[in-house]
Amino acid sequence: MWEKATGMSKTPLELICFILCTLIAPHLTGEDAPLPAPQNISILSTNMRHFLMWSPVTVQGETVRYSVEFQGEYEREYANESWIPICECSLITVTVCNITEDISATVAYNLRVRAENGARRSEWGTLKGFFIRNTTSLTPPLMKVIADGYHLLVELEDMGPAFQFCVLYWEKDQESKMQQKMVKEVSSTVHLATMETAAEYCVKAQTYVETINRSSSFSQTQCVRAQGGRSTWLVTVLMSSTGFAVAALALPFLVWKTRKIFQYSCRPIAVLPDTLKVPEPHTQLILCGREGAEQCDLMVHVIPSEEVLHLWIQETL
Ligand SMILES: *[C@@H]1O[C@H](CO)[C@@H](O)[C@H](O)[C@H]1NC(C)=O
Ligand SMILES: *[C@@H]1O[C@H](CO)[C@@H](O)[C@H](O)[C@H]1NC(C)=O
Ligand SMILES: *[C@@H]1O[C@H](CO)[C@@H](O)[C@H](O)[C@H]1NC(C)=O
Ligand SMILES: *[C@@H]1O[C@H](CO)[C@@H](O)[C@H](O)[C@H]1NC(C)=O
Ligand SMILES: *[C@@H]1O[C@H](CO)[C@@H](O)[C@H](O)[C@H]1NC(C)=O
Repeated sequence: MWEKATGMSKTPLELICFILCTLIAPHLTGEDAPLPAPQNISILSTNMRHFLMWSPVTVQGETVRYSVEFQGEYEREYANESWIPICECSLITVTVCNITEDISATVAYNLRVRAENGARRSEWGTLKGFFIRNTTSLTPPLMKVIADGYHLLVELEDMGPAFQFCVLYWEKDQESKMQQKMVKEVSSTVHLATMETAAEYCVKAQTYVETINRSSSFSQTQCVRAQGGRSTWLVTVLMSSTGFAVAALALPFLVWKTRKIFQYSCRPIAVLPDTLKVPEPHTQLILCGREGAEQCDLMVHVIPSEEVLHLWIQETL
């Protein structure tokens, strides 16, 4: 048995070579030493796009290439724990591999990477633990809320066929009447509702991936106002500015008019009584002081213009 076994394994010459090699190999420096296995192997997975990353293996002045393999649940349990090479990540020089296409099911995957430099290869560096795609981080969709007349519309970012969107919308300050719409295909613009005149509506959305039964957080709420609101506002602004313009134009006239009234009729009352002896019109002037401005104005015309001028001159002097 012993003879047979040794005979099968090695001839004396091979044995000598083996011993020599074993003794000499550790003393050969650099070139033939194996490369260290890649370290810090991790997964970056966002919105169902998955990337395997690792720290570079450095060999002074040489290019190191990497190759990646994966093992799904099927290979692990029914295919003798075999590994499948990822063609796109075979002998690559970058330290990242897009594994999105290979992660085709929501099962636990093993991943491994090794470094190569010429004939030298490293051991496989293996991802610690499994990767299951349901751990991907989902971001809320980019969205744009539009008020087209009375139509409440929303535009959503196209994140790929696996993505659906849960859109919530409501009239502002009426959150209890919130409505929901599932958007399965992002064609272009989605119609949500017909809005009440001048009312403000708010919208927020989250992404949903059916294959992993998970949702992102909600996007920031965006609010828009329906038509009518703006035009009413515009009418108000127009009317008030017109009113203001009219007032602005009328004011100098009114001031002028008022001054005229006081000058011709009312002001003399204070001055006249004792110092001046005005004949007839005097009674009328006193009367005017007690009565309304309109009457005042009318009565002024009663006074002969020469007399008014006379009064005026006397007062100013
Ligand atoms: C692994 O990552 C740690 C921290 O990010 C870093 O300090 C270390 O150098 C990395 N290892 C390699 C082999 O690059
Ligand atoms: C499974 O792999 C082992 C060694 O890893 C091998 O001996 C065996 O023949 C393989 N079986 C099948 C069915 O491939
Ligand atoms: C990764 O691969 C997926 C699927 O092939 C592709 O849609 C995506 O654009 C790729 N990402 C990058 C950054 O290459
Ligand atoms: C992902 O799926 C596994 C089993 O398939 C489950 O145990 C785990 O809780 C899930 N994780 C998430 C974040 O859904
Ligand atoms: C999806 O997840 C929710 C909880 O987040 C659960 O109630 C529901 O049953 C799940 N649906 C499927 C089809 O797994």
